[in-house]
Amino acid sequence: QKKMILDLDTGIDDAMAIAYAVADPAVDLIGIIGSYGNVYVEDGVQNSLKILELLGAGDVPVYQGLSHSSETDHFDRMPVSAQIHGENGIGEVQLPAPKRQPETGDAIDFFINAVKQYGKDLILVPTGPLTNLDAAIKKAPEIANEIGNVTIMGGAVTVPGNVTNVAEANIQQDASAANNVFRHVPLTQVGLDVTLRTLLTRKETQQWRDLHTKPGEAFADIVDYYIKAYEVTSPDLHGCALHDPFAVGVAINPDFVQTIDLNMYVTTDEKYYGRTTGDPARLDDPNTNVKVAVNANVDAYLEAFMDHLTNLFKKN
Ligand code: BDR
Ligand code: CA
Repeated sequence: QKKMILDLDTGIDDAMAIAYAVADPAVDLIGIIGSYGNVYVEDGVQNSLKILELLGAGDVPVYQGLSHSSETDHFDRMPVSAQIHGENGIGEVQLPAPKRQPETGDAIDFFINAVKQYGKDLILVPTGPLTNLDAAIKKAPEIANEIGNVTIMGGAVTVPGNVTNVAEANIQQDASAANNVFRHVPLTQVGLDVTLRTLLTRKETQQWRDLHTKPGEAFADIVDYYIKAYEVTSPDLHGCALHDPFAVGVAINPDFVQTIDLNMYVTTDEKYYGRTTGDPARLDDPNTNVKVAVNANVDAYLEAFMDHLTNLFKKN
């Protein structure tokens, strides 16, 4: 069993990412680091605690990470986040208040220590801005090459962005952090290129509802909110994108995608802020550090996703 840490801004697809990580027996979820984006960091942390309890995984430690990018004084939530994930980040579904608090320790130190302890057996899946990972590699630069597997949800290479023409939301929140990470950390990029192909519909959420369990019904309600938002913002897709849980799936089973090897960077210039693109300065450097997912084995992934989540929702 590999150890996994999730670093997320718990909105709706992040909640599904937690469920996938809890459900897959191939991994041991050893911690969650809270980020900002879909919601403020404090609210995201509360959502993570609530979702873990709902899933019978109330013993997974949750740390509160950084609340905004180092380029700004505070974080302004994008109005579209409330539209897609709800004001509370989880589709306005009211889950019971969590029985515990987040850990009191520092989130960045927790991560650095986990890399020291588990090294190549550690998987990190950031599905929010890369602010926490950037802070960790600035504090302890040597860990950049010691983490077993970093698989991020973020960016877009072969398709346009989703918050601007060129930028995807997670990268756009903190392009300078993303740029530092993209330049220094070997990683797999699961961007809009592939996450807009793994879609969930009401047919699947109905299967969860029909389980008549608390998690089955809660997740059906939460994800139906997200599906409804996609019907408004992206009617052509006919479903909601499984951005974040796809990154978790790929981290565990790389065969869910085909990748190309590149040296990448993230644009921090105003005009193309947040674009993830090939690094002209390293075109001839054969030691590429980024695997960009460009194609997805959609059916295989969706089958695994539904198997894992449905089994988990049945149990609790
Ligand atoms: C990403 O942005 C967030 O809103 C989602 O949770 C996902 O991580 C998609 O662009
Ligand atoms: Ca997210």
